[in-house]
Amino acid sequence: MFPRDFAWGAGTAAYQIEGGWQADGKGPSIWDTFCHEKGRVFGEQNGDEACNSYELWEKDLECIQQLGLTHYRLSLSWARLLPDGTTRHVNQKGVQYYNKVLDGLLACGVSPMVTLYHFDLPQALQDQGGWKSAGTATLFDSYARFCFQTFGDRVKLWITINEPYVCAKLGHEDGIHAPGLKEPGAAAAAYLVGHNMLRAHAMAWHSYDSCYRTEQKGAVSLAINSDWLEPLNAGRTEDIAATERQLAFTLGWFAWPVFVTGDYPETMRSAIDARSKKLGCSGSSRLPSFSKDEPAILGTADFFALNYYTSRNVEAGGGCGETLCMKSDRDAGEVLDPSWPVCGVSWLAVVPRGLRELLKYIKDAFNNPAVYITENGFSQVGPLQIEDVQRSEFYQDTILEVAKAIQEDGVNVRGYFAWSLLDNFEWADGFSVRFGLFHVDFTDARLSRTIYQSGREYAKIISRYKCGQSK
Ligand code: GAL
Repeated sequence: MFPRDFAWGAGTAAYQIEGGWQADGKGPSIWDTFCHEKGRVFGEQNGDEACNSYELWEKDLECIQQLGLTHYRLSLSWARLLPDGTTRHVNQKGVQYYNKVLDGLLACGVSPMVTLYHFDLPQALQDQGGWKSAGTATLFDSYARFCFQTFGDRVKLWITINEPYVCAKLGHEDGIHAPGLKEPGAAAAAYLVGHNMLRAHAMAWHSYDSCYRTEQKGAVSLAINSDWLEPLNAGRTEDIAATERQLAFTLGWFAWPVFVTGDYPETMRSAIDARSKKLGCSGSSRLPSFSKDEPAILGTADFFALNYYTSRNVEAGGGCGETLCMKSDRDAGEVLDPSWPVCGVSWLAVVPRGLRELLKYIKDAFNNPAVYITENGFSQVGPLQIEDVQRSEFYQDTILEVAKAIQEDGVNVRGYFAWSLLDNFEWADGFSVRFGLFHVDFTDARLSRTIYQSGREYAKIISRYKCGQSK
């Protein structure tokens, strides 16, 4: 049912689990700064200690083995390796830490998938303009080369940037993620940030392609998040057009340039230009253009890395009046289908079949790429439930949808990574939202890890399919 070499994984990210925010010469990142500002994060919590995976990484390895994972997705903290963001100074203690983790994984027969950037820009680079500055892309490329050079003998699956959409929109327009900027309007910070992230990704991919690929034989992509979207009223042309626009502004924003044309989706550009014109601002400048003098964006992904959590219905309208912002540009409103259960966080309507639909869409729209589902999960809030029946069922149902996508729709899915291995620091929600297959007791000084029922269920699913494969 699943290919023999299918990747069964779980994921984490450096800031969410490592702690050790000042340990052994690590530089501060924008998430350190953001969390230390008042009123940014639920309960004024922060990732100073988190799951303390900086010291307890061997405990994480035990969890990984207990699940029987074939793959583990982790991210590197840029500021732990290069405290001021540049290769002028390398923190050897940081290199040693990731060497230990990677060697430990390989010794257990687990293949690492490594994300270079999961939301945590070195603060030193934010001080020079962060992702709004074109130069950050060049510095990212140097950092990426450093990582390929240092760890690429052992890492065969690389993700350059995780969820550029979230970094751009939540970090620079909504201000609810680090660096906490609220900059809608003519300057359109989010579009600029997305643009520099695409440039950074493409530069790093080209570096890998020309300098490391022959020897290291790995694959590089970027992780794109997208909901599955359907028109609220399937017979209403306006809703169909709004759904297309919404898809263009989320999945399309990053996938189109990389997989289809080397440029933004036409729907996105024309919507932005039309809205800009209407509100009396020159259109073309708000969504930047790619320069012909820079490395091409098209073709810079060796596979499609998809983060999927939820689905929405879309209706026309819903722009924010006379304000220039992404919402008014896309002029589409999202609606929750009342039949979808919402579990844990309010945005997470549980719709396993949406994943199958999205996989089919990706196959058709992007020329049947190899796909890794790099994130998918189910959250828990409120009283702790170790016997998390609903989450167990969620994994069963979702993995069945993936199986159907492979078997019945012919989608080339190469792997599935549950989010997350551990309960961890869930960004602006702090520790109030739990996504783990293992519970972490943050009130216990040892930060003990306990498997949830859903962890046991995922382990069973993996072992069942692994056995099926060898028959
Ligand atoms: C993603 C993010 C993860 C995790 C997840 C659950 O956007 O990449 O780090 O927090 O959402 O909300």
